[in-house]
Amino acid sequence: MLKARGTGPMTAIETEELRKRFRGVNAVDGVDLSVPEGAIYGFLGPNGAGKTTTIRLLLGLLRPNRGRIAIFGENLKTKRRRALKSVGVAFETPAHYEHLTGRENLDITRRLLKLEKTEIDRVLDTVELTHVANRLVRKYSLGMRHRLGLARALLGQPKLLIFDEPTNGLDPVGIREMREFIKTLPARTGATVFVSSHHLAEIEQIASHVAVINLGQIVFQGEMTALRGLHAPRLEIAGNDLDAVSLFLSQTELAPTKKDGKLVITLSAAESAEREAAQINRNLVDAGFDIHHLVIAPWRLEELFLQLVGAKPLLASNADRREPEC
Ligand SMILES: Nc1ncnc2c1ncn2[C@@H]1O[C@H](COP(=O)(O)OP(=O)(O)OP(=O)(O)O)[C@@H](O)[C@H]1O
Ligand SMILES: [Mg+2]
Repeated sequence: MLKARGTGPMTAIETEELRKRFRGVNAVDGVDLSVPEGAIYGFLGPNGAGKTTTIRLLLGLLRPNRGRIAIFGENLKTKRRRALKSVGVAFETPAHYEHLTGRENLDITRRLLKLEKTEIDRVLDTVELTHVANRLVRKYSLGMRHRLGLARALLGQPKLLIFDEPTNGLDPVGIREMREFIKTLPARTGATVFVSSHHLAEIEQIASHVAVINLGQIVFQGEMTALRGLHAPRLEIAGNDLDAVSLFLSQTELAPTKKDGKLVITLSAAESAEREAAQINRNLVDAGFDIHHLVIAPWRLEELFLQLVGAKPLLASNADRREPEC
């Protein structure tokens, strides 16, 4: 049930059985989201999973075939204006007027929202674009364009910020800056942040809560720590005489397998991974082995999905997703 206003703790976004069908294909297929106020809520899924479609539904840009949406308790269908009043949004490819300056671009939205002029300086400062505010957008770097998109989303101090793949196309430095920026937003602005991505590592580093979507369906929703708990990390080892290393490790109740010229060991839990790796390292060095590579392998989205959805394909062909004709 969608929560009514004033009953219990407020959820920023709540959806119930949300569905959107495109030409017989369920792009969003019975999605129940519950985004707690104050969270950084990661919306994680591979290409074509239904992230942007869900976001467009949340913003009233698409009409669902069924289901309900409430934003801070306001039903999007019946109280559209009130529901969307407190929402700021940035899409993955921010559209700006190239022949205008950053400041002039923001001024257009400021006027539409009937906000004070000082609001522009505030958001420029927040995204650290003050020094290029009077430069034409056509001379902006991609990172600056993204930040200008965020600045626009921040106008009017919305209580909910929705970002669709905000790091797409950025270089590693730009990605890190964006990540750090998003991470500090709830503390700095009091806003709840809903951010989509297909990068597990990115979401893992910023989100307090996460929903994983595949083929239009939510396959996990909960706290980030709970998702992390599902994953048994692995240690990769390379060095001289790996067969002897493997034999040695087998005797200490570890079960190494060989892959791409390295030994791979499944560790017991994410929380203790570093401690376990250090102990194994110590044991190998004490035993006189010559090790030149010992790394906790990054957790990959594909593996997480295998754990969550088993053998289901990661990407749907349209035929797989078509509803049975009846
Ligand atoms: N306007 C549309 N008309 C028809 N099909 C659409 C439309 N928009 C999206 N789809 C289909 O809906 C499915 C979900 O698309 P969506 O854009 O929501 O995925 P996504 O998770 O945002 O993917 P990406 O990571 O590539 O951005 C895809 O199969 C897509 O082809
Ligand atoms: Mg998308």
